[in-house]
This record gives sequence, C-alpha cells and structure tokens, in this order.
Amino acid sequence: MSSANTETSSGPRQRLFFALWPDDGVRARLDEAGVELLGKRVKRVPAVNLHLTLAFAGSVTASVRQCLETAAVEIRCPAFELSIGHIGHWSRPRIFWAGPAHTPPALWSLAGLLKSALGDCGLQTETRAYQPHITLARKITRPPDVASMDAVAWSIRHFCLVESVTGPRAASYQILASWELEG
Ligand code: 2AM
Repeated sequence: MSSANTETSSGPRQRLFFALWPDDGVRARLDEAGVELLGKRVKRVPAVNLHLTLAFAGSVTASVRQCLETAAVEIRCPAFELSIGHIGHWSRPRIFWAGPAHTPPALWSLAGLLKSALGDCGLQTETRAYQPHITLARKITRPPDVASMDAVAWSIRHFCLVESVTGPRAASYQILASWELEG
C-alpha cells in the first residue's frame, strides 16, 4: 500500500519514475559487485533498491500519472540484453554507479520514448544527455581504483513505473505498473 501521497493545493502527488527493475538473481549479483568494489562499510544502496532509471517524472498529480500510464501502454520497443560491466563515479553528487559497457539502441529508444511521454504529459524533461546507471552507493568521495567490474548479464523484458517514497533513512520504492517489451 502506498503512503507517499502528499496533499498540496493541487491535490495528492506521487514522486514517480520509469525504471528497469532487476529480478532477484540480477539484483543479488549487482549487490555482490557493490560489496566487492566498495566493501561493506560505505553507504551502499540497499539491494532491494537497486534499479536503472529510464526517465524521472518527479512529483506528479493523479491525472499526470494517468497520462504517463496511458502513454506507456502505447510504447513499442524490442526486448534487449544488458551487460552491466562499466563503473563510474560522479564527484559532485558523490555517486558511485554501474552501467552497461555498451548501451544497446533499444535502451536509447526506450528512454527517448519515455522522455517524450513525460513532455507530452506536460512535465519538464531532463536537458542533460541520458546516462544509464545503477547507483550502487552514495556519499562516495574516493571511488575504488578500478575501471570495471565482473559483468552482470541482465535480460530486459519489461519496464516499470515506480513510486519513490522518501523515508527517514533511505528511499523506498514501489512498482506501480509494468509493461512488456516486444519479444
Ligand atoms: P540516482 O540513482 O542517480 O539518484 C529515483 O529517485 C530515481 O530517479 C533514482 O534512480 C535517481 O537517480 C533518479 N532521479 C532522482 N532525481 C532525478 C532527477 N532530478 N533527474 C533525473 N533522475 C533523477
């Protein structure tokens, strides 16, 4: 059950994003990679929260959520394979992340279609280039001195609409809906 609705003058809102959500096996391998790279002491993202964001909608009303879901139904994109073997560090947000060594055209396409859907539903869209990543840890000032990780194979067969609920310690995420890619 969701408790993330926050009442404002324009009605209840939810903080939403589209994402690729790993199954338990992929999730466990990504989590193990994080432990191997960073050790257990740093503030790693809990395994249950690991995901790859496709398009970030932000805080939206129920009618915008409906618009996003209607748009998602219309998306036609082939299923694809990812190999998560690249790692990176963004020094300003202090994020340590993993991502695909090569981004398949279908991932660019899916992210682009969802970005267009956000715009069509009246949302502001990200102006920075899309950079597919899975945040493994936050508040990392000095990343490990390695360039890659043992690749994790991830078959992408669907994408999800997810709600982010900000908790006292960490965000929690709830999958609201998911849509199959074309097989
Ligand atoms: P992050 O992992 O780099 O923090 C839920 O918050 C998801 O949406 C996270 O994957 C987060 O990326 C991403 N996200 C949060 N705020 C965002 C923003 N303003 N623009 C794009 N993505 C955002």
